[in-house]
Amino acid sequence: MTAPGLPYALLAELTYRCPLGCPYCSNPVELTRAGDELATDEWRRVIDEAAALGVLQILFSGGEPTARRDLAALIGHATAAGLYGNLITSAVLLDAARIAAFAAAGLRHVQISFQDSAADGADRIGGFAGGHVKKLAAARLVRDAGLELTVNLVVHRHNLDHLEALLAMAVELGAGRIEVAHVQYHGWALANRAALMPTRTQVEQAGATVAAARERLKGVATIDYVAPDYYARRPKACMGGWARQFLTVTPDGRVLPCQAAQSIAGLAFESVRDRSLADIWERSPAFDRFRGTGWMKEPCRSCDRREIDWGGCRCQAFALLGDAAATDPACALSADHAAMLTAAETESAAAAPDFRYRRIGAA
Ligand code: SF4
Ligand code: FES
Repeated sequence: MTAPGLPYALLAELTYRCPLGCPYCSNPVELTRAGDELATDEWRRVIDEAAALGVLQILFSGGEPTARRDLAALIGHATAAGLYGNLITSAVLLDAARIAAFAAAGLRHVQISFQDSAADGADRIGGFAGGHVKKLAAARLVRDAGLELTVNLVVHRHNLDHLEALLAMAVELGAGRIEVAHVQYHGWALANRAALMPTRTQVEQAGATVAAARERLKGVATIDYVAPDYYARRPKACMGGWARQFLTVTPDGRVLPCQAAQSIAGLAFESVRDRSLADIWERSPAFDRFRGTGWMKEPCRSCDRREIDWGGCRCQAFALLGDAAATDPACALSADHAAMLTAAETESAAAAPDFRYRRIGAA
């Protein structure tokens, strides 16, 4: 068993309900119903246990967290527990009164996702008519309320050619931080991979656009860039390593090392309804399974990057290879890397199929 460190952040998935249907949603594909959501008092206990465990930041997420009517109460509870609150939202349910209530409860930071730079494309990608205009209005209200704003841009073949316009939009809205993230192909995104996969040319252009914008926007906005795995030579340290820094609690109380962890067959994830967060973090076999480096096979086991990228992403290794203990095929040292690259080149060269929108019960 590898001794656990302290988790830094808790991703609180308050609900799987969401008005949008993004085809790259990180929620499970097997969503059959909104679920047996934790009650307000149960979330309060989770927040207290997270603070006691050493968590510093709570990310209120979903689904769409603003679909919960008790969100302001939960933000207030997190503030009182000393946690830095961050709301990750599509923003289509926000208005001035709710934003004021969140700010009064101690919220400091709001992250709003945009699907594209213009309404027609954005609403098509999100599967929600009228969403883009609502997001623009909500982002302005967030800044008017004095809250920090991050604009989240998930990029793929349908919006990468608009990246300059997306960055300009984020700056105009007053975002101090912009996250440009290529799609991570798990769950819904994997089901929509052929519809979303960009070409190598698009990816190279995006890298150049971000590099130039970082120079241009020094002192205005920070840009975080999440590179695409399929054209990579080395994987990312997914979640900073399995069960090293992050915890996710699902709407019904399951505790996971990452949002996609339930996609790995054979791992049993426990609930905050049965055990404390600290007990799960420190002693759950599923958390211990890929913590540290002791579980690694070759080539990771003897690689000098094994404590840098932690072997990449366990969920991606399972999804593509059926073996969560395999080297992430995003790594060029993996025997399966060439097949991953071929899939990207083949799919991005073909006409894009229709989206399969994320809907509860659509699996
Ligand atoms: Fe990372 Fe494993 Fe590749 Fe080394 S072999 S770079 S540890 S994924
Ligand atoms: Fe689960 Fe990468 S998404 S480990």
